[in-house]
Order: sequence, then C-alpha cells, then structure tokens
Amino acid sequence: MTIMESSPEKAALAGDTIAREFAGILSAGTVFRRAEPLAKHTTLRVGGPVDYYIEPADEMDLAKVLDFCRRRGISFFILGRGSNLLVRDLGFRGAAVCLAQPVFAKIAAAGDQLVCGAGARLKAVALEAKRAELGGLEFLEGIPGSVGGALRMNAGAMGAATFDAIDRVRVMDFCGHVAVLTPSEMAVSYRQCGTLKESVALEAVFRGSRADRAEIEARMISFSKKRWASQPSAPSAGCIFKNPASVPAGRLVEELGLKGLRCGGARVSDEHGNFVVNDGGATAADILELIGMVKEKARQARGIELEIEVEIIGE
Ligand code: EPU
Repeated sequence: MTIMESSPEKAALAGDTIAREFAGILSAGTVFRRAEPLAKHTTLRVGGPVDYYIEPADEMDLAKVLDFCRRRGISFFILGRGSNLLVRDLGFRGAAVCLAQPVFAKIAAAGDQLVCGAGARLKAVALEAKRAELGGLEFLEGIPGSVGGALRMNAGAMGAATFDAIDRVRVMDFCGHVAVLTPSEMAVSYRQCGTLKESVALEAVFRGSRADRAEIEARMISFSKKRWASQPSAPSAGCIFKNPASVPAGRLVEELGLKGLRCGGARVSDEHGNFVVNDGGATAADILELIGMVKEKARQARGIELEIEVEIIGE
C-alpha cells in the first residue's frame, strides 16, 4: 500500500516516530499524552486535541522538550490554566507544554517578597501573601490563572496589573538557557508581555508591602464581592476584548444592545458585556462567530476596532 503524503496514516506514523523520540529523551516523571483534548484544559471548555501534551517533570526536561521542538520544527505553545485561551475545534498540530507538576507551583515568602513558580495558581499566591502579611497582591485573588499565564498576559484586575507587583522573573529561552530579568528588561504593556512570546516564565518574584492580615482579608473580600456582582460564573475566558481607549469594551457592548446575543452554545454574558460564555455545547466556531458579530457591530455603529485579548490558537 502506498501512503500519500497528506494521509492520516502517514500523519499517524510520523506522530508515532515523534512520540518515540520524545520518550527517548524525557525522564519517567514527565507526563506525555497524545491527542489530548484541549477542551479539558481551557476554562471555555472548547477546543480540539493537541498532538502531544507534555507536563515536564522538571526544568531539565522542559529544556529538552523546547530544544527538541525547535530542532524538529514542531510547533508548540505553553499552556497555563487555559483561562485566557480559545482553541479552535480541530485542535493544535504540535505540542502543548504545561508546567502543571507540583515542582513548578512552589510559593515561598522571603521578607517582602514571594517567590512563586510559574505553575502556581494566582489564588494560592494571594492567599500566601495574606498569610505572610504582604499587602498589594490582593488583586490576584480572583484571576483564574497561573503565575506564568498572568505574566504572559500581564493579567490585571481591580486597577492593577501583574507586572506592577513583579520584582524579577526567571525565564528559559527556547534553547533552554535560563536568565533572570527585571520588568524593565522585558517588553511589557497592557495585557501583553512580548518577552514571554519567545521564552517561558519559570518563576516570578512578587513584591508586597507589610500590611495587617485583617486589612488584606477585607480588601480581598471587597474585590471578590465586586467581581461576583459584575462577572458571570458560567465558563468563559474572562474578558474577550482589550479595553479601547475611548470606552470599556463591556460598556460598549452593553450600549450596542448586544448582551444576550447568541451563536449556537455561545452567548454574550448578561452580567458583563466583555465576556462570552459557553452555555454548554458551544464550539470554538460558535464563539469566534459571536466575537466577529460583536466586532462588526462596534466597527459599524461606533467606528471602534475592538482588539481581542484572549489567545486564539489551533486550526
Ligand atoms: N460596564 C458596563 N456594562 C458591562 C460591563 C461593564 O457598563 O456589561 C462598565 C462598568 O460599569 C464600569 C466599566 O464598564 O463602569 C468597566 O467595567 P469593569 O469595572 O467591570 O472593568 P473592565 O474594564 O470591564 C477590567 C478587566 C477585567 C477585570 C476587571 C475588574 C480588561 C479588559 N478587563 O474589566 O479583567 O476583572 O477590570 O477589575 O482590562 C480579563 O482581563 O480577562 C478580565 C476579566
């Protein structure tokens, strides 16, 4: 039998070879799965499979994965908690590298600083800051992501952004070299860190200021109340659009009368106009079509070009 270049058989064989080669270089503690559904790994609960899903056991295996992908021309992306990620329905051809093992999630207080692994949850960082009586990190409490994802997106809430509270970040470039960078040495802007498009955050050092635990607790409770009052609890990827300079995207969507607009299982949230929620059974195509409808209306009615905040990947 002749197997055509583009046939599924040929692709499967190539996949087997790559998987075997990965197995040959990685330690036993690294998790490696094939055809992993990304819907399981995104808060929107949509997205097709990724060819290779990898949770490195340690930094050494991470470096090997990055080096292998680079040498073999395998596309890859770093998967955090998938809270700002929209994966298309046919999935991602290549590898998803996820720092999900506990070794990447350590958090340790040291004076006025918190040293946090990239895989640590932001909620855990906020709670540890409270325990260590470090103020200024309360805004992290309700952001549903990991430290690495928050750095990559310079995630923010309650008027603060991640890099406002960062002292330094330890990063690995795609060749496996490690460096420690201060924010001024990194390309950081609103909802974006360009440096982390070309490297992987391993660990961040957050800076806090001494504060009373009860004061921190009160601030966290007030932030949480504000969030629950204004944002949906249904599956979403947080805010879909960056806020344009002229008007917050959520307010714009409300003014345009688009709240509740549906496309298949996707709906513009009634609670907050800048959220698209999955009502169950939404596909990535539904969500993308709905986003397109909102963008088109904003362009036509107000001449505003809405810029998407979530990362969109896959085919
Ligand atoms: N507004 C409306 N209608 C809506 C939503 C908002 O009129 O449906 C108005 C609000 O009343 C307020 C203004 O728009 O006057 C701004 O709204 P909000 O305070 O909710 O803040 P936001 O700018 O929409 C930002 C972040 C959120 C973060 C919140 C809370 C961006 C794109 N979004 O939202 O971050 O949780 O502040 O601090 O900057 C995210 O990035 O994914 C995200 C959810």
